[in-house]
Amino acid sequence: MSDSRAVLAELLEQAGLPEPATVEVLTGRGFTDEVSVVGLPGTKPVVLRRWAEARELEFSRACFLADHAVPAPRLLAASRWGTLVEFVGGRLLGDLIEDAQDSATAWRAVGAAYRRVHDVGFPSGLAGRLGPDALVLRPVDPVAGLHELLENATAGLHRRLPEALVHLDALHGFVDRCAPSLRAAATALLHGDVNMWNVLVDTGRAVLIDWDLPEVGDPAMEIALLDKHAHLFNGTGLPDAFFEGYGPSAEPNTALHRIVQTIQWVASDDWDGFASEAALPTALRTRAQGWLDMLQQYLRALPEHLDRLSGLIEAEGSPGLLRGGPPEARQGR
Ligand SMILES: Nc1ncnc2c1ncn2[C@@H]1O[C@H](COP(=O)(O)OP(=O)(O)O)[C@@H](O)[C@H]1O
Ligand SMILES: [Mg+2]
Repeated sequence: MSDSRAVLAELLEQAGLPEPATVEVLTGRGFTDEVSVVGLPGTKPVVLRRWAEARELEFSRACFLADHAVPAPRLLAASRWGTLVEFVGGRLLGDLIEDAQDSATAWRAVGAAYRRVHDVGFPSGLAGRLGPDALVLRPVDPVAGLHELLENATAGLHRRLPEALVHLDALHGFVDRCAPSLRAAATALLHGDVNMWNVLVDTGRAVLIDWDLPEVGDPAMEIALLDKHAHLFNGTGLPDAFFEGYGPSAEPNTALHRIVQTIQWVASDDWDGFASEAALPTALRTRAQGWLDMLQQYLRALPEHLDRLSGLIEAEGSPGLLRGGPPEARQGR
C-alpha cells in the first residue's frame, strides 16, 4: 500500500504544481482506485488516481493518446503508485441519462469523441492491448474468436438463460455469414472499458476518462458494447444523435457483436462476483441485478435480433465496403 499524501506530494512536485489547498476523495459506485479532486491555489484543480498496488509508469501510453488527439485527460505526472491528470469539467453521461438531461448535443459530442478514438486506425486481423509502456498486437481471426466466445458461453447459458441454447447453432451460422465483413474490417484503438460512467460531457464536448484498459480491435465491437451499456441506462441504446457525431455504424458487424457480446456477458461469472462482492455498495448490487434482468430480456427477443441481422447481411451484400468504402455503400444504423 502507498501513503496517499506522499504519493500526491511526489506527483505535484514532478508536475511543478504548488501544495494542495483541498483534497476531496470521490466515493460511490465502488471505484476500483482511489480518485481525488485536488484543489490548488491560483490554478485549476487536478485529479489524483492512486493505485492499491504498484503499476508500470504510463508516460508512453499517455504520449501516444495525446499525439493522436484522443479525447482523454492530459497526464500531468506519474509514479508507480498513481497518476495526476487534468481535471475535466462537466457531468458523467450516466448521470445525465438518469436525470433525463442527455440532450442530442451531448450525444453528438459523445459520438464525436468515440470517432476520434476509432480514427486511430490499424490493419485488419489484429488484436492487442495498449499497455502503459508497450503496444502488443497479435494476428487474430475475428471469426474464430466469435465462434470461441459462443462456445465458451454454453455452460453459463445453461445456468442463466437455457432457452437461448436452441439458438446457438444458428448464431454460429450467422458468424460464418458475416465472415467476409468481419475479416475485412480495419481495426482501431478502442477505449476498452466503455460504460456510461467513463464519459464526461461539458457543453458540446465529451472526454473519455479511465484509460486503464485500451485495446486494438474491431471498432464495431466497441460500438456494440457501448450500445449495450446505453441500453441498460435508457432502455433503447445509442440514440441517432450519437451516430450524427460518430458516423454510420459498420454493419453487419456491429449488430452481430451486439448479440454475441450480450450472450457472453450474461453467461459470464461477473454476476456471481457482483452478488457476493462485500465491498460493493448495496445500490450497485441492486443495479447489477437489474442489468442482468435487462440483458436476459434482450436475449429472449433473439429471433427478432437475428432477423434484423439477416436483413443487414443481405443489405451489405458485397464484403469489404465497411470502413473506408464510399459512404453510400455503408449501411446506416
Ligand atoms: N480527469 C477527471 N476529471 C474529473 N473527474 C474525474 C476524472 N477522472 C475521474 N473522475 C471522476 O472519478 C470517477 C472514477 O474515476 P475512474 O477513472 O473512472 O476510476 P475507476 O477505475 O474507479 O472507474 C469518475 O466517474 C469521475 O466522476
Ligand atoms: Mg471508471
